[in-house]
Formats: sequence, C-alpha cells, structure tokens
Amino acid sequence: MSAPPSRVAVFGAGYVGLVTGACFADLGHTVVIRDVLTDRVEALQRGEIPIYEPGLAELIEANRERLTFTTSVAEAIEGADFVYVAVGTPPTYSGDADLSAVWMVIDELPAIDRPCIVVMKSTVPVGTGLKVRHRLDARGLTHVGYASNPEFTAEGTAVKDFLHPDRIVVGAFREDDGDAVVALHGGIEGPVVRCDVASAEMIKLAANAALMTRISFINEIANVCEATGADVVRVAEGIGLDRRIGPSFLRAGIGFGGSCFPKDSLALKQLAANSGYHFQLLNAVIEVNELQKRRVIGKLHSHLGSLRDKRVALLGLAFKPHTDDMREAPSLVLAGRLLAEGADVRAWDPVVDGRDLHGVEIAATPEVAAAGADAVVIVTEWPELTTVDWASVAATMRTPVLIDGRNLLDPARMEASGLRYEGIGRAAEVREG
Ligand code: UGA
Repeated sequence: MSAPPSRVAVFGAGYVGLVTGACFADLGHTVVIRDVLTDRVEALQRGEIPIYEPGLAELIEANRERLTFTTSVAEAIEGADFVYVAVGTPPTYSGDADLSAVWMVIDELPAIDRPCIVVMKSTVPVGTGLKVRHRLDARGLTHVGYASNPEFTAEGTAVKDFLHPDRIVVGAFREDDGDAVVALHGGIEGPVVRCDVASAEMIKLAANAALMTRISFINEIANVCEATGADVVRVAEGIGLDRRIGPSFLRAGIGFGGSCFPKDSLALKQLAANSGYHFQLLNAVIEVNELQKRRVIGKLHSHLGSLRDKRVALLGLAFKPHTDDMREAPSLVLAGRLLAEGADVRAWDPVVDGRDLHGVEIAATPEVAAAGADAVVIVTEWPELTTVDWASVAATMRTPVLIDGRNLLDPARMEASGLRYEGIGRAAEVREG
C-alpha cells in the first residue's frame, strides 16, 4: 500500500540523509534535503553525488522531480509535514555523542504554524527525544510532533536496507504522530515496531551493540582457534546453523570499524556510565576490537621478524567493501603501526584514493602494490581480490607472505600458489589442508 504524498524536509546530506531523502522521494513524497555545506549542496544540485553508495545515484536521478537540495532552512521547511533530522552525532572527547548539530537544527526551526512532525533519524543517546520535546515546548511549538525513527541501514546496502527493512521502528510521544510516521513508509513491506521514544532510541543503540558483541565474540573464538588448532570459518558455519544463533555477523577478521559501530559503542558505554552503570560486556567488546586490529602486526612479526625496511602491501583501505568510507577503518591503525615500526607501506583500494594516508604509497592495482613486498595483508574483503592471479603475485614478491585479515581466500589454494598463507583463526586448514 502506498502512502499519500507528503512533504519531507531532511536535515543533513550525509549517508543517512541522502539515502532517507532519496528513498522517500522514490515512495512518491516531495523531499527537500538541506545541508549547511554549500559546496555539497551545489554539487548535489548539479547531480554529483558526494559519496559512494551503490544504487543511490540512480535513485536520486530517477526521482529528480521530487527531490531538491538547499542550504536554506526556510526553503526546506516550507510546507513540510515531516522534518527529518539526519545530521552527524560524532563522539566528543569524552566519548559522549556530540549533539550540537542536532540542537542547531532544532533551534533553527522557524515558528511553524501548521501540523508538522520532527523525526529523529540521527543516532542519539536515550533521553534526547524528551529533551527535544521540552525545547520545542519552550519555544511554543507544542503542536509540532516528535518521533524517533532510527536507521538500520548499512553502508554499501543502504538503499536496499531502507526499502526492504527487517523492521521499521517508530517511537512517539503521541499516538497519531507515530501513525503518521508509519504511514509515511507506505509502500515499504516489513514489520513495524511501535514504542515510546526512549525505547526506540535504545533499540538503535542496542542493535548495534548486539552486532558488535557478535563480532568481538567470533574474533575471540578465532584467537582461541589459532591457539588450539581449530578453524574459525568452520566453527562459525557450525554454530551459525543453530537457529537460535544464526549465521550473520560471525565473520572473524581484523575488527569492526566504520562511522557507526566505534562511535555508537562509546556513546552507549558513556550513556550507561553517566547513568551510574558500568557496562562491562560492552567495555570488553570495545577492548577486544582494539586488540584485534593489532593482531596482524604480531603475525607479520612472526613471519618477518623486525618490520624495519620491510615492504608491506595493504590490500583494501575502506572499513568494509562497497564503500569509500575510511572512518575508523582498521587500515588506519595498521598503516600507522607499520610506519611506526619502520616498514615501507604500499596500499591499494578500488575506491578510496588514499590521499590522506601520509607516508603510504598508493598503487593502482593489487599486483603493483604486492610487487617486491615482503608481505601482503588483506585488510578489506573487496571481491576483486578473489580473482587476482595469486601465483603470479607470489612470484613477484620478495617473501611470499599473505596475511588474510578477512579470511577471504582459500588457504589450501593460496599455499598451492606458493604463498605462506595465514588467515584469522584458521590454524587447522593450514596444518591439515
Ligand atoms: C552498521 C549496522 O550494520 C547497521 O545496521 C547500522 O544502521 C549502521 O551500522 C549504523 O549505525 O548506521 P555499517 O557500519 O555500515 O552498518 O557496516 P556493517 O556492515 O555493519 O560493518 C561494520 C563493521 O563490522 C565493518 O568493519 C565490518 O568489516 C565488520 N564486520 C561485520 C566484521 O568484522 N564481521 C562481521 O561478521 C560483520
């Protein structure tokens, strides 16, 4: 069932705002996306998409007539039935979420005299909605509704995740505001969870915490596999088939990164701490992840000894494939550690240009990055790496060591290609295979 067309103002033209705006336009709504960054807005007006997100450019192009971009608050708000807040909430020095961009949007809202609902899409601490409600009331905007509608889209699959969600969560102070936000999603199939605002805010933080916990869990299992001679890939398969556990987010590797998990884990940790609760499990999840990023260095040491003047090729820089996002990417920690140890670092990524990685030489292909190297490290599991002729690569390397930080490749095949292969938590296959 499709929704009656509404006017939606989206504040923030980042990943979340652009995907939200484009998807609502695709559902038939009229959308104005507003951002403070003039360059970004002008580029969008010219049809240039500032981020790499599969399907987004096509969706924006297909819905041009219903989707515009502006820097003007007045233009965005004009006739809006919904004001979506999709601005960044980066961590502050203390680890708490920085809500200054959220407050700027709320405080910039003009005196709205028609029915309208402010909808929070940005990830915010539990209790933020109530504070926004009070702020709106204090400004006499009591007729303006408020709802929390957290996002669960992952970079690389964001458009698909938005249009085919596992669930839509809507928390509202007033029943009819929640009904309106649900109706706005008409045309999208998926279960709807209706709740209070605080619970919707917590659902977002808890969902990400649960996913991170699974990753740190399987990474620790991987480390024990290494120590005891098991293979974590088989172990993950074996436990993932248990319906109570399920197969997702059980890929062991060099740890999670990105714009969300690291920041959201800190925000939840601080939210708990500020409320007087020490969230022990989450602290462990974060610590395991930090250590996991550094394990590759230990593996390189065991193969090469000192890394001084050794050439190491990092294959993949983005925090995961199908994105150009480098925020909290494990590659940053790895490159930094390698340079600090005196290694000569070359890198390749099909999307990230690596210009900001000082001291790292960027190569045009994985083969060029690996030529003459003492070790190659797979940092991001780009599909391109599965079709590389690894036997030829091995022949060009100074020492043919391959550390597969994402367990992307088949250990036996790599060994047959002449590489000394080491994955994460895959002791058994190498020994027995
Ligand atoms: C994540 C969540 O998956 C989304 O549901 C959520 O909406 C989003 O954060 C957010 O809060 O905005 P995203 O950060 O785009 O999305 O990426 P994921 O695909 O979840 O991957 C996060 C990190 O975990 C990556 O570094 C990835 O390599 C790592 N990962 C993921 C693993 O190491 N193992 C796995 O099994 C899965």
